[in-house]
Amino acid sequence: MYTAYRLNDPHEVMHPHKHTASAIRFGLTGSQNFTGVEGEDITFGPGDMVLTPRDTWHNHGNLGDKPAVNLSVLDLPLVAQLSALTFDHDYKEGNERKQQQSARFPTDYSARVYGAGGLLPRFVDHFRGVGGSSPVYVYRYDPVREALEKFRDWDANPYEGLAIEYIDPLTGGPVFKTMTFFMQMLRPGERTLPLRQTASLLVAPLEGSGHGIVDGQDFGWERHDTLAVPGGAWMEHVNASATDPAILFIASDEPAQKPSACCNASAASRAASRSGWPEPRSMARAQRTRLVSHIDCPGGGQVWVDGTTLFVEHMRRPAGTRTRCARATG
Ligand SMILES: [Fe+2]
Repeated sequence: MYTAYRLNDPHEVMHPHKHTASAIRFGLTGSQNFTGVEGEDITFGPGDMVLTPRDTWHNHGNLGDKPAVNLSVLDLPLVAQLSALTFDHDYKEGNERKQQQSARFPTDYSARVYGAGGLLPRFVDHFRGVGGSSPVYVYRYDPVREALEKFRDWDANPYEGLAIEYIDPLTGGPVFKTMTFFMQMLRPGERTLPLRQTASLLVAPLEGSGHGIVDGQDFGWERHDTLAVPGGAWMEHVNASATDPAILFIASDEPAQKPSACCNASAASRAASRSGWPEPRSMARAQRTRLVSHIDCPGGGQVWVDGTTLFVEHMRRPAGTRTRCARATG
């Protein structure tokens, strides 16, 4: 997986483009992040997840008066490894080249059609984009947060806490064939048991503070940090607060591994041997990236973490203007 912080200046909207990598945008700051997806104009804020499935036209931006930051997660390294990565910036409606997509759906289309769990309108064409991905283009934070709260007093999975997965309502499976996403609650003082899996994870805390212990190394985190967990590493989550819950947004490449039956998980002691597990590649190590501030940054930075890349993403700006970006620190 690949992840990046994206900063949009006030009232800045990119031209439409599409690519064969599938992506999500997860709102961090600002209440009017904007992504138009195949004619559905979506305005979103902290905790909302927007899908741009492979080969769907989309344009990013910010409709608000203040800068807005969101987190991108893509299956780009996998698609590139398969020599299947293409981009297209030549957006047209009819024969006319357009700088922004025309709205063809109500702004609440995803919620109106798919917002009632267990109910599916039969008079709607559920084939969106090029098919194969969830037709829900925005998953709002409030419903998943309310769902977590309902289960707050239940017995959680000892390895994952309370985790709720985002699903494709047409299949009941993950939203993409390559990546899946969870919202996870750690109750006050909760610590999960060590879990090792072949899937790589991207952990993005949205509420609270705590620690991620990856192969015995302790990474403290706060909201808006990201933690990359390489496949094959032992992972433990700790909520450091005795009074407040912690909410983690988690991306996993588990669906990409399942068709080839190479997906595996182990919940034995972290001290167990690596027998039967591949040794991590020499580059593999956990990495925390912190959203520090908005700064003027001419070049940006990049750190590689096994199959996961954390780096700063720049908006394409007119020549001669400065590029502002978020700074990543290890
Ligand atoms: Fe894109």
